[in-house]
Amino acid sequence: MLKQHKVAILGTGTMGRALGSGMIRAGILEPKQLQGTVKHERELAQVRELVPFEVSTDNAAALSGADIILLCTKPGDALELLSGLSAERCFESSPLLISIVAGLSTAELEAAAGPGPRIVRAMPNTPCLVGAGMIVIAPGSAAEPGDLDLADEIFQSLGRVIRLDEEHMDAVTGLSGSGPAFLYVIIEALSEGGVMTGLPRKVATEMAAQTALGAAKMVLDTGRHPASLKDEVTTPAGCTISALLSLEDGRLRSVLARGVQEAARAAAGLGKSEPNS
Ligand SMILES: NC(=O)c1ccc[n+]([C@@H]2O[C@H](COP(=O)([O-])OP(=O)(O)OC[C@H]3O[C@@H](n4cnc5c(N)ncnc54)[C@H](OP(=O)(O)O)[C@@H]3O)[C@@H](O)[C@H]2O)c1
Repeated sequence: MLKQHKVAILGTGTMGRALGSGMIRAGILEPKQLQGTVKHERELAQVRELVPFEVSTDNAAALSGADIILLCTKPGDALELLSGLSAERCFESSPLLISIVAGLSTAELEAAAGPGPRIVRAMPNTPCLVGAGMIVIAPGSAAEPGDLDLADEIFQSLGRVIRLDEEHMDAVTGLSGSGPAFLYVIIEALSEGGVMTGLPRKVATEMAAQTALGAAKMVLDTGRHPASLKDEVTTPAGCTISALLSLEDGRLRSVLARGVQEAARAAAGLGKSEPNS
């Protein structure tokens, strides 16, 4: 279905590159169907080396003929960009505009873009780059029934997709948007435990990452509660229960849960006061 579309990525930064390169790698788009933009000329040469599609600083040219727009700038840049493009009549063809911008509601985006684009809000994460992303999508007020299906098809090529009401988007940002960073710290910490007990660092990191991947796959593939899977690893009086009690003494569980809560709280303020957070 996407083979008939032209896609513009406004903001070919970390996420714009992950989404654009991921869609091409998944085979749902040809490079010639995709046009990316960045703000600064000085970034162009480096970004062009990183992606298999054309990138420019000309947003209006990228939007010309595009029927799907991925808005991937930082929150502090998004509204000004949309209102400028609206003033240049770049949305008159009523494109589908998918915003991955944290903290900005579809109502705020619609107010800036004016009548024209049908907006869908999405929250992906960086593992989209390797086809293992978690993406949540929600429709704006002008989105048509087929728009969510189209967004679904795009993001299915990059990972697992869930449809939720927009009211959950800050929580989603705190859990799956920010979550890869939390898990990298956990993987690094587990690896350091291995190094501390004598494993070479490279081996320890590989073991920690594969163990995280395997545990995640057990939860997703079996549908069982994580606590029940954890219980299977804990032999009475064994090493795992001994370590788990030590982790509970360090409040691991509440520290992680509070981290998600804090990220969600911070996400709600993005694009409101501080520019580019
Ligand atoms: N990073 C994550 O893990 C993650 C996860 C989920 C959602 N998000 C959301 O994704 C968005 C992008 O995050 P990111 O980490 O990819 O940021 P980033 O790496 O800083 O990329 C932002 C991009 O937007 C470009 N840009 C800024 N203003 C522009 C304009 N007026 N016209 C065209 N391009 C413009 C920048 O160009 P220059 O480089 O030239 O300034 C840069 O290429 C954010 O809204 C964030 O909330 C991020």
